[in-house]
Amino acid sequence: ERAAITVSASHRLHKINDNLYGGFVEHMGRCVYGGLYDPHNPNSHLIDKHGFRTDVIDAMREVRVPVMRYPGGNFNATYHWIDGVGPREKRPRRPEFAWGGSESNQFGTDEFMTWCKIVGTEPYLALNFGTGTLDEAIAWVEYCNSDADTYYANLRRQNGHAEPYRVKYWALGNEVWGPWQIEQMTKEAYAQKARQWAKALKRIDPSIILILCGETGHSEWDFHTLTECLKYDSHALAGGSQSASLIDMHSIHIYTSSHDPVKNVLAPRSAERAIEIAAAMIDLARIQNGIPPAVPRQTICFDEWNVWDPQRAPGHEGAEENYDLSDALAVGVWLNVFIRQSKYVAMANIAQSVNVISPLMTDQDGLRRQTTWWPLLLFTKYMRGHTVATNVSCGFYDGPTESAWQQSTIDNPWLDVSTTIGDDGWVNMVVVNAHPDIAIHTDLAGVGSSQDQVKVYSFGGNKDMSRERVRVHESEWEGKGSYTFLPFSFTMLRWRPSKKEELL
Ligand code: AHR
Repeated sequence: ERAAITVSASHRLHKINDNLYGGFVEHMGRCVYGGLYDPHNPNSHLIDKHGFRTDVIDAMREVRVPVMRYPGGNFNATYHWIDGVGPREKRPRRPEFAWGGSESNQFGTDEFMTWCKIVGTEPYLALNFGTGTLDEAIAWVEYCNSDADTYYANLRRQNGHAEPYRVKYWALGNEVWGPWQIEQMTKEAYAQKARQWAKALKRIDPSIILILCGETGHSEWDFHTLTECLKYDSHALAGGSQSASLIDMHSIHIYTSSHDPVKNVLAPRSAERAIEIAAAMIDLARIQNGIPPAVPRQTICFDEWNVWDPQRAPGHEGAEENYDLSDALAVGVWLNVFIRQSKYVAMANIAQSVNVISPLMTDQDGLRRQTTWWPLLLFTKYMRGHTVATNVSCGFYDGPTESAWQQSTIDNPWLDVSTTIGDDGWVNMVVVNAHPDIAIHTDLAGVGSSQDQVKVYSFGGNKDMSRERVRVHESEWEGKGSYTFLPFSFTMLRWRPSKKEELL
């Protein structure tokens, strides 16, 4: 099997938002309790003075996680933030409706903000659209962001936090369309409520970024809510100042998986189609609502993505996935999709960041990195800056796929590729070979440099799916002639072209 890839390093396409490497922590399973917060762990060297896991904090810093979504997830639909602030001994234990059991409220808003500060990440809070009221939501924004002499801002001060947290990102509910949701809504009812809440929330803090609750990106729910909520609204902001729309981002959630390893690797491509369709819906809604093109375009917030088989790792049991090589390759494809679609996607959050559907697992004695950690680490280290024009010509998988969206609308080349150029001038290309048996000899043009060897980071390349074998190998390649991408492998090539070479 032969293929060709041509990279035009001087042809930069889109700026990549660092928020593509966002995370998500939910009060679910062992994510918060036992993941972020583990005060009773007998290994005291793993715990800081706040009761936070230092190994988890170090891992978050290693991937420079830029933004963290909290507190859920489905958990949000019955969460009252006020239960989780103030003296710990006075915080109520409540029944928990999303995942079962109860919520102790020992970790709440102030603990999360402290944790974010230590990690060096930005908080993103999701509002309770189930049993929560607009009053509570306004109060939460006031508690977090206000420096006025008002009740909830003063409550924050009284709880020991003089300075506002200035939380920028706020989600208008989570999966409100889902039948599993407490207070599931129709698209009509949600759109009406989301607009009214948005108006109030932007009055308490006009600088916040509001994220509309979308679905898969290609559903009627997405279409209706976008059309109704991206309305030009001259009365929206206090004082009648004009705003093109109260909504800044539209969220999408997709998890992929398959028991067939090849389908599993290729499945994230269905998300690529979802992004394209959602982006088109945003344009359409803007045209329909007369939003002038000069007004910044709403972006996509892909705030839950990952490989997750809920049968293999059920939510009510804590969704502790155990990933193999094909899952790691699938995460490589997921991240390639976000890089390729970075024109539209301004934030993406792996769901979740620790223990639950996660690349990182804690136990009493330390942290285990799953197979899916390695592509995440390599992307967060190197795939930043701008995307670069890349042509790929290779054979296709033509069997059945997991998602109908994937099968009916896009081809499935065996090589899944994305390329970036960093501000340091290094070009980085990720190639996932999804073929389970065939090494693909590939003619590369525009790859390599006369000044240095090409750096190679790879894993996979054999049929051994065992978890222990997935480790990143580092090597160098002279950058001439063709490169062979081994079956079922992930390869990152890095090189630094001279200015002359970049222009070729
Ligand atoms: O991430 C696990 C769950 O998946 C989230 O709580 C929910 O939003 C989604 O269904």
